[in-house]
Amino acid sequence: MKFFVDTAEVAEIRSLAEAGLVDGVTTNPSLVAKSGRDFKEVIAEICAITPGPVSAEVTATDAAGMIAEGKVLRTIAPNVAVKVPLTEAGLVACRTLANEGAMVNVTLCFSPAQALLAAKAGATFISPFVGRLDDISTDGMRLIADIVQIYRNYPNLKTEVLVASVRHPIHLIEAAKMGAHVATLPPNVIRMLLKHPLTDRGLEAFLADWKKTGQSIL
Ligand code: G3P
Repeated sequence: MKFFVDTAEVAEIRSLAEAGLVDGVTTNPSLVAKSGRDFKEVIAEICAITPGPVSAEVTATDAAGMIAEGKVLRTIAPNVAVKVPLTEAGLVACRTLANEGAMVNVTLCFSPAQALLAAKAGATFISPFVGRLDDISTDGMRLIADIVQIYRNYPNLKTEVLVASVRHPIHLIEAAKMGAHVATLPPNVIRMLLKHPLTDRGLEAFLADWKKTGQSIL
């Protein structure tokens, strides 16, 4: 399973990349606004950190505008994936950009039917938002199971399931068990995955015992 990092914070991406945990990055207008950075500049910096796909989202709402913005975003770096919303215009832009060889991430997916349409439109990635469905008392993970099953039935569909709006480790583990190709994880969720009280307690005990030996490795 590939791990993308869901953030526009360059320092976070750099430190997670050092641990080999970054197969790509996803951003959206809200994350860029939160970073306070210039959009194109921050995307260029992120693309230099990871060779994996870096999603940069268009903000036009008509197909021609999305295509024009997508073309500009693609000039930033070869690993930019143009992110478009799951609207009819977004699907037209997806098909056009995909035909030109662009990676396209279709975002704001909340139903299996939408995911099927995005795959037919040539999306490289489909981004179903699990946390936001959970927020409205709808099972977000059920959506992942449905999309994975549908895509598996049609091997000619090459779109990868990119699980988004991941809020906690259970989302990730369930998605991995279902065989989703990618999860995009906010840095705080990656840290949640890392932590286990028995690891901390075990390390403390090992170090206390080592101290008693009076030895040093270096
Ligand atoms: O990249 C989009 C997505 O992951 C949003 O997550 O937590 O704002 O629903 P959230």
